[in-house]
Amino acid sequence: MRVMTIVGARPQFVKAAALSREFASREGIEEILVHTGQHFDANMSEVFFTEMEIPRPKYNLDVHSLGHGAMTGRMLEGIEDLIEKERPDVMLVYGDTNSTIAGALAATKLHVPVCHVEAGLRSFNMKMPEEVNRILTDRISDVLYCPTDAAIANLSKEGFDGFDCEVVKVGDVMQDAALFYAQKSKERSTLKLEPGFVLCTLHRAENTDDPARLKSIVEALESIHEESEVILPLHPRTKKKLEDYGMNSSLNIIDPVGYFDMIELLKKCKMVMTDSGGLQKEAFFFGKYCITLRDQTEWVELVEHGVNRVVGADGDKILNAYRKFSSRPSSKFELNLYGQGSASKNITDHLLQFTSKH
Ligand code: UD1
Repeated sequence: MRVMTIVGARPQFVKAAALSREFASREGIEEILVHTGQHFDANMSEVFFTEMEIPRPKYNLDVHSLGHGAMTGRMLEGIEDLIEKERPDVMLVYGDTNSTIAGALAATKLHVPVCHVEAGLRSFNMKMPEEVNRILTDRISDVLYCPTDAAIANLSKEGFDGFDCEVVKVGDVMQDAALFYAQKSKERSTLKLEPGFVLCTLHRAENTDDPARLKSIVEALESIHEESEVILPLHPRTKKKLEDYGMNSSLNIIDPVGYFDMIELLKKCKMVMTDSGGLQKEAFFFGKYCITLRDQTEWVELVEHGVNRVVGADGDKILNAYRKFSSRPSSKFELNLYGQGSASKNITDHLLQFTSKH
């Protein structure tokens, strides 16, 4: 089986680390890894390949720092050429980024079956580029690998039961990665951390591209920082916007961190505040409450179980959630919401079966 895998943005490296490891352990699978180039700074890309021992990409399209149309268009063109050249049996794409839709669209037009890992998630906010990317990718995928029951239900409501595709619940590959690398992070992390801080990340366009929202979030974080240190590994997008808007901050802002450092931050923090998709789940994996700095979340089961609060950019709501979670003992993290580390195995088993039929 020849699988072409598209990665490009940070969360996709984490997901690919889990699945590529499983592929490498099986007979008869050749993976052709393509990096679109979307994330290119060493601490947004290279560090993950090195630390997580992800195979070197065979190709890097070096497409980045462009508007959505130009970025997606150039990736589409580059991936199409690679499909013609490599003739893979299947195309594998992850998540909801511009790299995801470019890979899926290039493959489907050339009749290469598309397999989408992390299918079926919805925020129901069509203003988010991620929502558009994931809906379009799902619709043109032949196999939809869903992490959760909520994802399966979303697809069912949208009529996927009647479409010519397979919808399979496999669990979450990010859980596989967290379990595997958590055993190694202590020796490999370089951070010196005093437990009890708040871990924050912030990079979504809906927050960074709206000065009022960004200001409101930063002000709330500043007031939390007066009683509990807020550590903010800052995405380059947000760094640039803070400079553009002339916003200064006294938070403990550090450069983006690699996966081992992130795991140590998760183990030692008292709480997570984020607008990331993946970090909301990672908070749960490491037994921490999460305050989601967005108006919706795709990970609704975390909210239903009381471990995640969706507060948007409203300062009062952020502070209230912080106080509520600060005073609540951690007790609800034993649930099996995302599989127990077997998502990569489930996907690989299914892919082998799928390609033998096609
Ligand atoms: C992208 C994904 C988002 C995902 C996120 C993870 C899309 C539409 N968005 O958002 O779903 O959650 O990745 O981080 O695909 N930049 C650098 N160095 C880098 C990477 C980016 O300076 O290594 C700059 C870019 O030049 C650009 C900005 O950061 O100015 C945003 O990058 P972009 O890839 O467009 O979106 P992300 O915010 O990273």
